[in-house]
Amino acid sequence: MVYSDVKLAHVAFAGMSIALFALRGTFTLVAVRPSTRRVWKILPHVVDTLLLVLGAWLAIMLRLNPLHVTWLGVKLLCVIGYIALGVLAFRLHRPRWLKLGLFGAAILLFAFIASIAILHNPRGIFALAG
Ligand code: HEM
Repeated sequence: MVYSDVKLAHVAFAGMSIALFALRGTFTLVAVRPSTRRVWKILPHVVDTLLLVLGAWLAIMLRLNPLHVTWLGVKLLCVIGYIALGVLAFRLHRPRWLKLGLFGAAILLFAFIASIAILHNPRGIFALAG
């Protein structure tokens, strides 16, 4: 697979990841009767794993070390935060307002991660403010 194919697949999986996350959040946090079908639990893990593996593959192809390339290092830290927020948002036995807050924060963090990737800047979208 050439670099442009891997990058296209990485971006496509990023789109699928946030779409599935938003759907899962809508069904489990907003819908009256959440879906209990196993596919909605398993599919996001498959997509997210492929997203991360393709991201690591890109970094290897470009010889980018997250310890030296600041935007990639910050992006990885934010990815960890995004995963943690997602796990916490769907935990049982938490007040609904907290779950909704964690869910919203995860979506905002995802958008910030995409802006870091597009601008190659650790400040992401905030770099545009000068
Ligand atoms: C939530 C997770 C992630 C999202 C939303 C995301 C998003 C993106 C996007 C939108 C691009 C395309 C940027 C452009 O148009 O130039 C990109 C590129 C890239 N991503 Fe990710 N990514 C994620 C995770 C990762 C991870 C975990 C790694 C590394 C381990 C990674 C490494 C890269 C690299 C090296 C590029 C190529 C940058 C370039 O072409 O110069 N990504 N990512």
